[in-house]
Amino acid sequence: MVGIFDSGVGGLTALAALRRFCPLCDVAYFGDTAHLPYGSRSEGTIMHYATAAVSTLAALSPEAVLVACGTVSTVCLPKLAEGYRFPVFGIAEAGTAAALAAAPHGRIAVLGTEATIRTGVFSRMILARRPDAVLTCLACPMFVFLAESGMNRPDDPIARLAVARTLAPLLSNPPEAILLGCTHFPWLSSLISPLFPDAALIDCGAAAARALSLRLRFPAGQGKTCFYITDSAAAFQRAARAVSGRVPEGEFFEVPPAE
Ligand code: DGL
Repeated sequence: MVGIFDSGVGGLTALAALRRFCPLCDVAYFGDTAHLPYGSRSEGTIMHYATAAVSTLAALSPEAVLVACGTVSTVCLPKLAEGYRFPVFGIAEAGTAAALAAAPHGRIAVLGTEATIRTGVFSRMILARRPDAVLTCLACPMFVFLAESGMNRPDDPIARLAVARTLAPLLSNPPEAILLGCTHFPWLSSLISPLFPDAALIDCGAAAARALSLRLRFPAGQGKTCFYITDSAAAFQRAARAVSGRVPEGEFFEVPPAE
C-alpha cells in the first residue's frame, strides 16, 4: 500500500496519476482538511501538521509515502522523512526534472504557495541543474481556494480574473514551462493554459507519482483507496466533486486532526 498526503483535494491530482501507472496499487490518502491551507502557515506549523499526517499513514505500514503537497515537499521534507522504515517522497525532484525537460531554453515559471516560494527550493533545484535558467517565481495564494471551492471552470469570470491577475507578471516574457509547484494548481489548468498557449504545464504530483511507480516497480494490490480526512469527509467529497466532477471511489474515514 502507498500513502498519499495533502492538505486537501490537491493530492487527488497525484492520486489520479498513480492510478494510471499502478491501477492495482492500494492507496491510503490522508487529507488534512482541518488545517487547510498549509501554504500561508509558518514552517514550524507545517512541520507539525505534516509529522502527524505521516505518523498516521505510518501506522498503516505503507511501502512508501508520497507527500503530494508542494508546501510540505519544499518546507520540511528531509526532516519529515527521517526515522521511517519506508521511503517518503516529495514532488519537487520529479517536478523539477519534468520542467527542465520541457524548457529547451530554460525559461521556466515556478508557481507555488507562499510558503513554497519563500523556501526558494524549486529555484535552487533548477539552477543547480541549469545555471543559465531564466526563472520567475510567483506565489499564488488564491489558487488553493479556487480549487477547493470548485471555481476552476474556464468560463468562471471570478476565477479567470484571479488567475489572470496573479499570472500577469509572466505575460511580458512568457515561459516555456510553467511548473505547478502546488498539487492544487493542475485543477486550474484550463484557466492557465489559454493565457500561455505555448507553455507546457508541469504537474509535479503526476511526475512524482510516475517516479514512485518506477521506484517501487508498480506495486500491486486490489486497487483499493481509503481516505482518512481530518475534518468532514462529506465536505471533502463535495470539494472533490466540485473541482473534478466526481467523488473519488473508496472508503472514507474521519480521523482526529493534530492539536
Ligand atoms: N496542495 C498543497 C501544495 O501542494 C497544499 C496547499 C495548501 O494547503 O496551501 O502546496
